[in-house]
Amino acid sequence: MLHPVIERMEADPKRLKDHWSLPREDARFLYLLCRIGRFQRMLEVGTSIGYSTLHLALAASLQDGHVTTIDASAERQAQALQALQEAQLADRVALLQGDALTVLNGLLAQGKAYDFMFIDARKSEYIQYLSLAEALLPVGGVLLADNTRSHRQQTADFIAQITGSSLWEASDLETPNGFVLARKRK
Ligand SMILES: C[S@@+](CC[C@H](N)C(=O)[O-])C[C@H]1O[C@@H](n2cnc3c(N)ncnc32)[C@H](O)[C@@H]1O
Repeated sequence: MLHPVIERMEADPKRLKDHWSLPREDARFLYLLCRIGRFQRMLEVGTSIGYSTLHLALAASLQDGHVTTIDASAERQAQALQALQEAQLADRVALLQGDALTVLNGLLAQGKAYDFMFIDARKSEYIQYLSLAEALLPVGGVLLADNTRSHRQQTADFIAQITGSSLWEASDLETPNGFVLARKRK
């Protein structure tokens, strides 16, 4: 068991599915990746009700890290905040409500930088999130994008760009929903 609040969320699979949360094993992968990478500045695009965010925040709490998470839905982010508070992890997370591209451009304008970025919002915008990731992540920064198999068509331009780019070392992972995992190399 990772955390009792995560377990409580998992006890209601319908609620998780209705809010497009990661499958359990994919969330474990996200958590482990962040633990192994010891990322301190983590950025998530697509909070929903905070299932994936809890995994990021738990990793953050164990390695003196912090999570910034973005979602257009204030209502879903309120549910995420409640879960984070119950888990006593809210101090590790900044919840930013708004359109992802607008918020990401704002973070860039503020000079923010991240070690890790998890992309899980509007699939047709992945290609634009990638341009912003190139500016927001330093060399060695890691990007994980969800749903690259389940939404293959909508993410095709993103997949072609990141796997064909000399800027990234990338793997198109054939997990059930599909993950693209990449490291910025220059
Ligand atoms: C797949 S869900 C995120 C699931 C979450 N990462 C998890 O695994 O628990 C996608 C979320 O992205 C948000 N979203 C979609 N398009 C967006 C956009 N353009 N800007 C901001 N948020 C967006 C939706 O409101 C939704 O809550």
